[in-house]
Amino acid sequence: MTRRKYYFSIILICLFSFKLIAQPAGRKNFDADWKFHLGDITGAQATEYKDQYWRNLDLPHDWSIEGNFKPDNPSTNSGGALPGGIGWYRKTFKITNIKSKHFFIMFDGVYQNSTVWINGHYLGNRPYGYSTFQYDMTPYLKEGSNVIAVKVDNSLQPNSRWYSGSGIYRHVWLTTTSPIHVNQWGTFVTTPIVSEKHAQVNIETNITNEKAEKVAIKIISSIVDLNGKKITSQTRSQNIDSKGQLKINTTLNVNNPLLWSTEKPTLYKLVSEIYQGQELKEKYFTTFGIRSIVFRSDSGLFINNQYLKVLGVCQHHDLGSIGAAMNTRALTRQLEILKSMGCNGIRTSHNPPAPDLLDLCDKMGFVVMDEAFDVWYLEKMKYDYHIYFKDWHERDLADMVLRDRNHASVFLYSIGNEIAEKNHTKYGGAAIAKELDGIIKKYDRTRYTTSGFAGVWRADTTFMTDKVDVIGINYTVERYPEEKAKHPNGFFIASETTSSLSSRGIYHFPADSPIIKSPDLQSSSFDNHSTSYDRPWTNITQTTWREIKNTPYVAGLFVWTGFDYYGEPAYSYPSISASYGIVDLCGFPKDVFYFYKSQWTKEPVLHLLPHWNWQAGQLIDVVAYTNCDEVKLFLNDSLISSQSFANSSTEYLTSQWDKVISLGVDKRLSLVWKIPFAPGILRAEGYKNGKLIATDKVITAGDPAKIELSADRSTISADGIDLSFIKVKITDRKGVMVPNADNLVHFSIEGVGKIVGVGNGNPISLESAKGSQRTAFSGLCQAVIQSTHKAGTILLKASAIGLKEEKIIITTK
Ligand code: GAL
Repeated sequence: MTRRKYYFSIILICLFSFKLIAQPAGRKNFDADWKFHLGDITGAQATEYKDQYWRNLDLPHDWSIEGNFKPDNPSTNSGGALPGGIGWYRKTFKITNIKSKHFFIMFDGVYQNSTVWINGHYLGNRPYGYSTFQYDMTPYLKEGSNVIAVKVDNSLQPNSRWYSGSGIYRHVWLTTTSPIHVNQWGTFVTTPIVSEKHAQVNIETNITNEKAEKVAIKIISSIVDLNGKKITSQTRSQNIDSKGQLKINTTLNVNNPLLWSTEKPTLYKLVSEIYQGQELKEKYFTTFGIRSIVFRSDSGLFINNQYLKVLGVCQHHDLGSIGAAMNTRALTRQLEILKSMGCNGIRTSHNPPAPDLLDLCDKMGFVVMDEAFDVWYLEKMKYDYHIYFKDWHERDLADMVLRDRNHASVFLYSIGNEIAEKNHTKYGGAAIAKELDGIIKKYDRTRYTTSGFAGVWRADTTFMTDKVDVIGINYTVERYPEEKAKHPNGFFIASETTSSLSSRGIYHFPADSPIIKSPDLQSSSFDNHSTSYDRPWTNITQTTWREIKNTPYVAGLFVWTGFDYYGEPAYSYPSISASYGIVDLCGFPKDVFYFYKSQWTKEPVLHLLPHWNWQAGQLIDVVAYTNCDEVKLFLNDSLISSQSFANSSTEYLTSQWDKVISLGVDKRLSLVWKIPFAPGILRAEGYKNGKLIATDKVITAGDPAKIELSADRSTISADGIDLSFIKVKITDRKGVMVPNADNLVHFSIEGVGKIVGVGNGNPISLESAKGSQRTAFSGLCQAVIQSTHKAGTILLKASAIGLKEEKIIITTK
């Protein structure tokens, strides 16, 4: 290959892999240069309104995360104890050569209750904060300067059981089309026949003619592969009526297709071109994957005829110190961390996600349970979606399906989470479930429908579960045999599990006793801080996984949750963020991360807990999460004992907590010791078939002496969006992390970047997520750095009283 060809193909690959969303060619990002005012203003939609004193910002934006945590914020600590309220956004922009073009504005999501005006003309109102919506601005635009105004009303509180964020928190897009164009979400690509030899690709294309005359068009549908190479195409000629709509169905065949799977997520692109005569009028891109999805009642899920156990997590949408403001890098990092644990599935609990999430899941190989609602008519919070459900559910659900139905990753649509409706209430649960299932199937029959039923026994198996395709059981893992007996031909998924709590680096003894509430308002990392005792439907991590692993007809699970999130804390205020996560708010893995990794990947895993700073003589429970079959434990180089899964006692860890009585095989999933503490080095060696394959150690740390900085990426894009996540570690003189260090770290930054968030993963920290300082929690904290549009270097310095200052350089290109 010549150099030129080589670079050209690299550019093509980049273009292809980053532009994933189904979109018209004339779609442009519209996030830059908005004005923002926090608080209500009468008449701010008027074109002539003077907004020169408003704050300048780029979207996506979340004003809640910029506020202070307060016990009396009406969101309550369940919603994150951050402010809601009303905010206004305005943007003045130029349109040129307006004639015979059409202009649409699309919002990926505005939380919540947004009203949009263009040049003072009302475009519409959208209550649901998680829906994507578009308005046609064409009739009200003029050549030259135009003003769009958006009022966001998140003042009715509380309206969420978790942190929602406030504002235009997802991307905005301006689409320019010709008068004959593909409709919004106007393509639907399905793959009814899939094998390694051949795939049939069916394409539905919906086109609008805005012109007052009938027009003859030619539409060319082409499938393009990852390298930008056209594989096949078909041309159709058709007339389209004046102001008319046209639906065109095309079938294309792909020989030897590269199939999409979670292991190898190959994608294709459909390019739809509309010609009038010889002139190309419009182009529309749709990314899709070739794969089949089949549930079997005896054995779970099959993708391309290959068995796939869903190893998934539930996620809310906030991104730690970034808040709810969508950032592709922050989200990509979350998914990279989860993928490295062996995770292959995401449940978008409990609402339609940002489209970016689905693009990333398509590209990175996750299956997605795409969920619509947390409530229907019956409330969970005073002002939640139940007040809009009656008027909006049909539109919101249809829009979710229309938007998401080309995503290879989406395998399940969920009509709701732990819905409270019963059949005898005014709003019959069965009838609503049937209606919602019908709405989904009107637009897409290629995915399965489900719902996260609250432990099924609460959701009454007889009237709701048979209205959807897959029975989603939240929690109650011990009930599978009973449910299976009731629904022998049913398909099952553990739509939500576990709800085990842990604060990173915190250990409450003894490890084999349940701990429900602790005076330090933290949760223990021994997998012993379970909610099972006050909420008997939950289970600890190991019990849950053991059941799911050994139940073939349950297609997999979604653990509650992958990451910690603001809101829904374990204790009352000042507890403000949830500690259900396998990973904390900063993206630092907790111990349980290594448990999952040991079970969900084939990589050798050996992880010792707890840390090794205790009182001399104190009896310490030591746990190893591992997939080795034998582990030798040494304290200061003397062998304590060797444990293996074959010989270790099943008493420990099952005696007190484990509600599951008949477990079948594989009772033990971790190895444990109880030893008196002596300072030094606790070291483990892990063996498989007699061969040493993994080691780990914990070392007694001295007093805090140094700061260690490391970046997840030391070179980032100079695009004003990209992020570098800086991990700040407090260590002793020798570089050992001090496990209880809580030093206050001050940051200063020079060069072409800014600090956009600080965090430490402590669920009871009331420190702001913004600013330039943060206390460490269990030895760690974090600064998130964002590039500007200028290439160059960023210098971040971190200092703390009594510790040596440290710096790190990030390059932006
Ligand atoms: C579930 C619910 C989740 C979350 C979780 C906490 O019942 O579906 O949204 O609240 O409990 O344990």
